[in-house]
Amino acid sequence: MTKRIGILTSGGDCAGLNAVIRAVALRAHHGHGWTTVGISHGTLGLLERPVAARELDPARLDAALARQGGTFLGSTNKGDPFAYPMPDGSLRDRSGEMAEAVRLLRLDGLIGVGGDGSLEILRRLFQPTGVPFIGVPKTIDNDVANTERAVGYSTAVAIATEALDRLQPTGASHDRIMVLEVMGRDAGHIAIAAGIAGGADVVLIPEIGWRLAHVTEHVAKLRDAGRRTALVVVAEAAGKSDDPPDPKDDAPSQHGMGEWLAKRLAATTGAEVRATVLGHVQRGAEPTAEDRLLASALGVRAVDLLAEGGRDRMVAWWNRKVIDVPLDKVVGRSRTVDRAGSLVATARALGICLGDS
Ligand code: F6P
Repeated sequence: MTKRIGILTSGGDCAGLNAVIRAVALRAHHGHGWTTVGISHGTLGLLERPVAARELDPARLDAALARQGGTFLGSTNKGDPFAYPMPDGSLRDRSGEMAEAVRLLRLDGLIGVGGDGSLEILRRLFQPTGVPFIGVPKTIDNDVANTERAVGYSTAVAIATEALDRLQPTGASHDRIMVLEVMGRDAGHIAIAAGIAGGADVVLIPEIGWRLAHVTEHVAKLRDAGRRTALVVVAEAAGKSDDPPDPKDDAPSQHGMGEWLAKRLAATTGAEVRATVLGHVQRGAEPTAEDRLLASALGVRAVDLLAEGGRDRMVAWWNRKVIDVPLDKVVGRSRTVDRAGSLVATARALGICLGDS
């Protein structure tokens, strides 16, 4: 009997989502003779009647799709099904309507592509339907637990690195300190990786407690040694440091880290400083080859896992291969930068100041 599986993308978009959708639909069709139904705008499509979803034609999912950024299905990071914001300002539990949509679509399995928050919501939402659910990790933040890589991260790092490559010559031409703020809601993975790859002098991440005084001292030393420019990478969440910054530093906990740091460094070093906030530029690009590969491998495995009777699991990348793990070991956890890990050690060995000494 032909099975029907549904796929939706949920949470913030990133590069590589289309490659996941393509891999799922192709594997379902060619490997198992199944039909794939694409659900529009994440869980929001499940609120519409008729349900906003369509069968995906494998013949139209050519390689061009794997190159495209964004998600052609659309996504949402709003509208918690269990506390859905209504026009009158109240919050309503609309999970029942969404579960009913799954029944209306006559699905035998569901694949959700999301970060830890989305996977937690989707799992809870679909459990009462009895339809097996498999998660695929995606987020430029790369902070999903129990996977070394999430789709979208490689592209974000490549973009942030390229930004540093571009900031260096302009900074050097004007003897300026160039501050680059990169994304990462709670984790510094993009900052540390791009900082190393792009030759930063300073990298500030939330996982490592830092002091403005250490940063100033490091930059001043560079300037004393004759280098008039410096590259500083700051994660947007650096102010949420586990080891809180000196209260007199007054760092913002999320928005505005780049500008805040630039102002402080201008005051403490006397140098000209410019801040660049990279923002959503890190999300909406053509995926790197690595992200296309990861997306394809995880998408294929998610379908095969459903075929094997798997449910309530997430496909993951671990130790150079695709594995799958129970969602129990994913939701409610996160994977932040390991303070004792190789990247932090590499940064220190290269003389990059992490603000803690
Ligand atoms: O989680 C992905 C992410 O891009 C974070 O890095 C960032 O903090 C957040 O989403 C931005 O969300 P929004 O698109 O709602 O502004």
